[in-house]
Amino acid sequence: MIRKMKKSDLNEILEIERLCFDDAWSKKDYEYELYDNPYAQLWVMVEDDRIVGYYDLWITFEQAEIANIAVLPDCQHRGLGQQLMKHLEMKAMENGCETIGLEVRVSNVQAIRLYENQGFSVINTKPGYYRHAGKYEDAYRMMKGI
Ligand SMILES: CC(C)(COP(=O)(O)OP(=O)(O)OC[C@H]1O[C@@H](n2cnc3c(N)ncnc32)[C@H](O)[C@@H]1OP(=O)(O)O)[C@@H](O)C(=O)NCCC(=O)NCCS
Repeated sequence: MIRKMKKSDLNEILEIERLCFDDAWSKKDYEYELYDNPYAQLWVMVEDDRIVGYYDLWITFEQAEIANIAVLPDCQHRGLGQQLMKHLEMKAMENGCETIGLEVRVSNVQAIRLYENQGFSVINTKPGYYRHAGKYEDAYRMMKGI
């Protein structure tokens, strides 16, 4: 089941963030997205009362932007990432968006493959886009028309 994210989900979300990302978003980041970002739509995937994945989609008029997406490591490689992508594309279409965009680390082969399988293409590279603990990494800008 995919449903809207709630404040009571945050502990589980923060644990998945910690497992998935070196530069994990904080509780404050999520509270901002949930309550203060008028463009953000946050959804979670639940299996047996456990959150197994989530995404944050920014909808700004005709453009949608994937701000974040993750699947619990134990549950990866089962098609859940693909289901979340299909769900967010449906939400983007329902909101009248014409494109979906995202940035991804050039080293994140798993995510890049997921996006390419969903019809996204690399449109440019953003040098040094990611900076964490004094290290820089390039990002690919990827987009899909819908
Ligand atoms: C990127 C991410 C969301 C993908 O999630 P996922 O649930 O593993 O994605 P899927 O299962 O849909 O697809 C992954 C692979 O599993 C394969 N797969 C899907 N269903 C499968 C099944 N039932 N059995 C075996 N393999 C399967 C897919 O074909 C795909 O293979 P490929 O990479 O060789 O093309 C996940 O790796 C993740 O959370 N990463 C950490 C966070 C992150 O990097 N987020 C992106 C930031 S830009």
